[in-house]
Amino acid sequence: MPLHPTSIRPRLATAALLTAAALVAAGATPLAAGAAPAPAAPALAAPDIPVASVKAHLTQLQSIATANGGNRAHGRPGYKASLDYVKGKLDAAGFTTSVKQFTSGGRTGYNLVADWPGGDTNQVVMAGAHLDSVTAGPGINDNGSGSAAILEAALTVSRTQFKPAKHLRFAWWGAEELGMVGSRNYVNSLSVTDRSRIDGYLNFDMVGSPNPGYFVYDDDPALEQVFKDYYGGLGVPTEIETEGDGRSDHAPFKSAGIPVGGLFSGADYRKTAAQAQKWGGTAGKAFDACYHSACDTSANIDTTALDRNSDAIAYALWELAQ
Ligand code: TRP
Ligand code: CA
Ligand code: ZN
Repeated sequence: MPLHPTSIRPRLATAALLTAAALVAAGATPLAAGAAPAPAAPALAAPDIPVASVKAHLTQLQSIATANGGNRAHGRPGYKASLDYVKGKLDAAGFTTSVKQFTSGGRTGYNLVADWPGGDTNQVVMAGAHLDSVTAGPGINDNGSGSAAILEAALTVSRTQFKPAKHLRFAWWGAEELGMVGSRNYVNSLSVTDRSRIDGYLNFDMVGSPNPGYFVYDDDPALEQVFKDYYGGLGVPTEIETEGDGRSDHAPFKSAGIPVGGLFSGADYRKTAAQAQKWGGTAGKAFDACYHSACDTSANIDTTALDRNSDAIAYALWELAQ
């Protein structure tokens, strides 16, 4: 069933008042013997994603690039090492992972898909990020940031033993930088029926830009609204993402008729004076001056933007999947 704006239930006040631990404890309370059948479980508020954990993944991706010629690009050893790092964490956390190979430009690429067991597989909520960098640098903001953020969201699903009504799926795409090759390959591999089972695809490509903007994809209204709700609760203004619609891995999903959404903190466009006024940072400077450059290192990250966007991802997954 497609997502609809009215299906989004704002629970920001509850989320702010209750800790994730308290909610997990409450959810774990056993039923008294002989109790009447339980009503549908109350929806759990999304947990906070610890930004230090997201940054620890970025440190690992930086080390992988440094040890492999300075990049994590398609067809290079740093890409496969990045994939192995992410897969190892997911396997240890209880995800069902699958690696699919493809060839592009005469080199082998890989997608990694991780399914969280349970939930209705006819209603899949999916989050994805490209894991490849350009050859020029380590690609820590583009797109270690989205890769690390969804990895930590997935690990938090496991840590809290989240049992949503819908099925959760995470994906790390290869060869985005060659023209969304991995994600296109994945969508093309799905039957029409399997495509129709995906309620929504959320894309995270650059979510820790050093001079950040807070951009929400203006696509499926329900998916757009869930991110606006999160940022509204924080009191942080957002803008519609306009730095090139269809320039990332949501494009193949959208082309296949799957509802898409996502977040973006900006690439090589410059922050305007009005944007610096509301978001801070430096007017007249690119959101990411190191975009596609050797200086896109672990120093090229704004921790506040990475933290907010990571928490927004968890908020969206918890809202959309229950
Ligand atoms: N996809 C681009 C890259 O990886 C980055 C980018 C530019 C982007 N504009 C965008 C991503 C708009 C999402 C939305 O190099
Ligand atoms: Ca956080
Ligand atoms: Zn990117």
